[in-house]
Amino acid sequence: MSRQSPGSLFSEQLAKAFLGGSLKLPMWVPVEANPPEAALVLLEGWGNEPLDVSQRHAIVEMNPLLIGVLLADDEPLAPAAEPSLVVMERSPAGNLGRVRLCPRQRIPLATSSREFSTLQIFAVEGCSNDCLDLPRLRLVYLVERWRLAFDNNPRNEKMSPMELFCMWVLYSYPRRVNVVSFLHPSGINMFPMDLASGFAGDLGILCFHRARPCLPLVREARKLAVCSVPVEDAPRVFGIGKNHQIATLDRRELPFETMPSPTFGIPVPQGALSIREVTVEEIHEVPRHQIVIGRTVSSAGGGAAMALVHRLYYQRLLREGRPMRASIRERAG
Ligand SMILES: Cc1cc2nc3c(=O)[nH]c(=O)nc-3n(C[C@H](O)[C@H](O)[C@H](O)COP(=O)(O)O)c2cc1C
Repeated sequence: MSRQSPGSLFSEQLAKAFLGGSLKLPMWVPVEANPPEAALVLLEGWGNEPLDVSQRHAIVEMNPLLIGVLLADDEPLAPAAEPSLVVMERSPAGNLGRVRLCPRQRIPLATSSREFSTLQIFAVEGCSNDCLDLPRLRLVYLVERWRLAFDNNPRNEKMSPMELFCMWVLYSYPRRVNVVSFLHPSGINMFPMDLASGFAGDLGILCFHRARPCLPLVREARKLAVCSVPVEDAPRVFGIGKNHQIATLDRRELPFETMPSPTFGIPVPQGALSIREVTVEEIHEVPRHQIVIGRTVSSAGGGAAMALVHRLYYQRLLREGRPMRASIRERAG
């Protein structure tokens, strides 16, 4: 049984009263979700009707924060009003937040696609977050600004507070953590990726930091396997995060038993809930990331799997007594 000192109990009570929930939760909570069933992301101010971009947008850069949206031939290429992304829960229906956008770059796709012809890149200009009432949200922002000011961990991405708070809203939509792997004559690699869109249509986006040593191999192999895994695998998924820093790995070091993917024979986790095989169609550059446009060749399985949500949203779910299944050591209420 875990014991808490009176001091930590006191600060827990304070956090719950003034900040909306326990600070023992990780900032990004691994949950079990089927993102498009759980929530909806609408692009507003981009034409007369809001566009459902839930499955065709991705965070493509963290610093500055940039968002990529795949657009169809018959969709507008310029804003009708001030564009924004609205994150909504489906059931009970309600707004979780809004991120105001500024169009940055329009990338015409060379790939012929049944659905998409353009990748529109947006910068963010501010947000509102509906996961917490305004007075407590302001206090949370204050605490976070203070934490950011004193954060000197070189491994942490130094985002501006405004952009970080926009990220929080974007993670009210559960972001699937894919286990991505490839096979190259010089070896294999397998790592987690959440800078990715869904693949509702034939195309999807995967974003690699440009410093990744595996990128030249991905360019050459031109084939990737994109898998979803159960939320119980979260510790193992975080464990292979370090594989982003190497080009290839020794298969025996993987925490997953693997099996070959059906068409390309790429090693994928044996317990994967879904396996999607994609070809790398084109690669575009934003300041510090490379955006891979992938096309689905085969897809099997699906359903709820590991995703990440921001703590403010998970705390709201806890307060409302309807948390998603999560992989967290402390189930703080
Ligand atoms: C859950 C998870 C998702 C990640 N998603 C991406 C991604 O989409 N693109 C990318 O370039 N790096 C991604 N990374 C890599 C991290 O940004 C980081 O570089 C990596 O984890 C190594 O840092 P570390 O040694 O501090 O873990 C991801 C890492 C984790 C753990």
